[in-house]
Amino acid sequence: MAYHLAARFCKNTVSCKFAKAINFSCLRCNVSTVVSSSFEFPNFKTHNELHEFSINKTDEFWASLAHSRLKWLKSFHTTQQCNMDEGKFAWFFGGQLNIADNCVDRHALVKPDKVALIWEKDEPGNQQLVTYRELQEMTCRIANVLKAHGVQKGDRVAIYMPNSPIAVASMLACVRIGAMHTVVFAGFSTEALAARIQDASCTAVITSDQALRGGKIIELKRTVDAAVAKCPSVKHVFVSQRTGADLPNMPLDLPLDKLMAQACQHSAIEIMESEDPSFMLYTSGSTGKPKGIQHSTAGYLLYASVTHQSVFNVGPDDVYACVADIGWITGHSYVVYGPLANGATTVLFESVPTYPDPGRYWEMVERLQINQFYTAPTAIRLLLKAGDAWPQKYNLSSLKVLGCVGEPLNHEAWHWYNELIGQSKCDLVDTWWQTETGGICITPRPSEAGAEIIAGMPMRPFFGIEPAILDSSQKLLEGNDVIGSLCIKKPWPGIARTIYGDHERYLDTYFRPFPGYYFSGDGAHRHSNGYYQVTGRTDDVINVSGHRLGTAEVEDAINEHAAVAESAVIGIPHPIKGEGIYAFLVLKDDVVLDQVCIVSEVNSLVSTAIAKFAVPDHILIVPALPKTRSGKIMRRILRKLVAGETEFGDVSTLADPSIVQVIARLHLDSNRNLM
Ligand code: PRX
Repeated sequence: MAYHLAARFCKNTVSCKFAKAINFSCLRCNVSTVVSSSFEFPNFKTHNELHEFSINKTDEFWASLAHSRLKWLKSFHTTQQCNMDEGKFAWFFGGQLNIADNCVDRHALVKPDKVALIWEKDEPGNQQLVTYRELQEMTCRIANVLKAHGVQKGDRVAIYMPNSPIAVASMLACVRIGAMHTVVFAGFSTEALAARIQDASCTAVITSDQALRGGKIIELKRTVDAAVAKCPSVKHVFVSQRTGADLPNMPLDLPLDKLMAQACQHSAIEIMESEDPSFMLYTSGSTGKPKGIQHSTAGYLLYASVTHQSVFNVGPDDVYACVADIGWITGHSYVVYGPLANGATTVLFESVPTYPDPGRYWEMVERLQINQFYTAPTAIRLLLKAGDAWPQKYNLSSLKVLGCVGEPLNHEAWHWYNELIGQSKCDLVDTWWQTETGGICITPRPSEAGAEIIAGMPMRPFFGIEPAILDSSQKLLEGNDVIGSLCIKKPWPGIARTIYGDHERYLDTYFRPFPGYYFSGDGAHRHSNGYYQVTGRTDDVINVSGHRLGTAEVEDAINEHAAVAESAVIGIPHPIKGEGIYAFLVLKDDVVLDQVCIVSEVNSLVSTAIAKFAVPDHILIVPALPKTRSGKIMRRILRKLVAGETEFGDVSTLADPSIVQVIARLHLDSNRNLM
């Protein structure tokens, strides 16, 4: 049996030889074809052989997929021109295409009535179906509205909306006209939103009046009003109605739904070069300022499409659900772009896992007959805690593949997910990737059919991905059973192209720490069997419920308090969130305020400056921080101290070594149960 990478196209541009088999459309020639026979690498009998081919003949591998899976307006002439040392990446050079054409138009042409989106609204049991034809119409109308108000190719548009068809259509409308969207998670505060709009110099914002999340109203438009007041670049605020709330009209406001109704339902696509930017998404790094990670057009889309299809093994009639928010990269690649590029039916989940009760996901799986389910470890741990009775109430037999992403999935949660939800018959894919990688890089599937899946690790590199582990002296660690910094050796199409407006920071962060490699910022263990386990961040980034936060970002917010002289923030283990936040505060000498009051004000400052999920779980007021003589805060010592260790290593380099014991005593006295 030849190895088949399930992809949906045939090689015959005139009449597809598989046309009679199954009623499914070939993405390239738009003729029906069978899914599994559609893309063949006939010379490869095993997964390992094909993986080796993808590494050794990278250009052939990706060029073949790019031709077959994407719809090109003009074919590319050069597969790649990349230089890891210089952080320069160009894939499918000379090619022209449009993402909205690939994700919507080509499907609307051949299967207009296929459901593209199932909108699972916050109100339980309230799904709304959107076909490819309807999605195309919405996208075109928004594209026309944007163009009529001066939004052009290259402009940046901020999207601050709940998971909803209109939000997805807004993203697609931007890429349709060549504008870059920057989706901001609709839980970020006014200040965080304003900082992102300012950094990107967005000329327009698309939002909703309010959002509903877990039955609670979130005042999106009010947050936008306050943010936009600080952002002179914004010329228009397009407001869509989610709840129909009666809100004050601001001078820049435009009623999106009304304008869409008046707009034409057809809209020409903008011809984009392969390397034109498609969108950017802000994520945290080790400094206080979030980075606008910028993605390409062709390379990003191809990587999202191929990984979505082959990691989740999505068939033509499947209902695929990734419950991430569109404000994160998971929402971009695996709610919107990957599934839609593949012509799949993708669920758009607006709610939270515990609303109205902890059976929400499982009731939805039964009602919508979901086949693939992709979530985050933090949600699995939360639902595990709620008890087995919830999943046991529902029929979960439609499930074939379970996935998770965002942080390590601990063994207990892995087994619960596998046994209670997957009933030990699903493939469970713990997928490792990042905002910067564009798509999944390490994952148990695809692999040989039936190959082992081991709990607690993403295991196998995806096609075209060659992971490398290096030590702190930049030495490549060969062989197995090695631990070090997780890097990637070769370019792949989905890699982010730059940090918007700061290419030097891009080079400093990802390419200079280990010359010749992409550095992920994570540590990893390559086990004796060759499988990869990700051990966590090696930089000053905390992962709270799968959301990245820089320690400096939180410290900057805390230091805004008039009573705080300085602060240090560390990540601590948390049973549900994976990591929680512990903040150490040094107060100014003349402070007379009550400490309880300071703690509460600091919490509210962080919530206002960033988001609620960034609020510290624990705050300790200390007389000083452990610092070197040159002033560097030794967070390593704080981490050890909170972990209950009594050996702190060499503290002689500290300006005041005695402070370590003082903080340790205060921590013990603080009498709070952190674990
Ligand atoms: O530390 C790794 C962790 O999440 C980080 C990436 O975060 P972000 O860019 O927000 O993207 C999250 C969704 C792709 C990584 O550097 N991470 C992601 N997946 C895993 C993981 N840690 C362990 N195991 C994973 N499967």
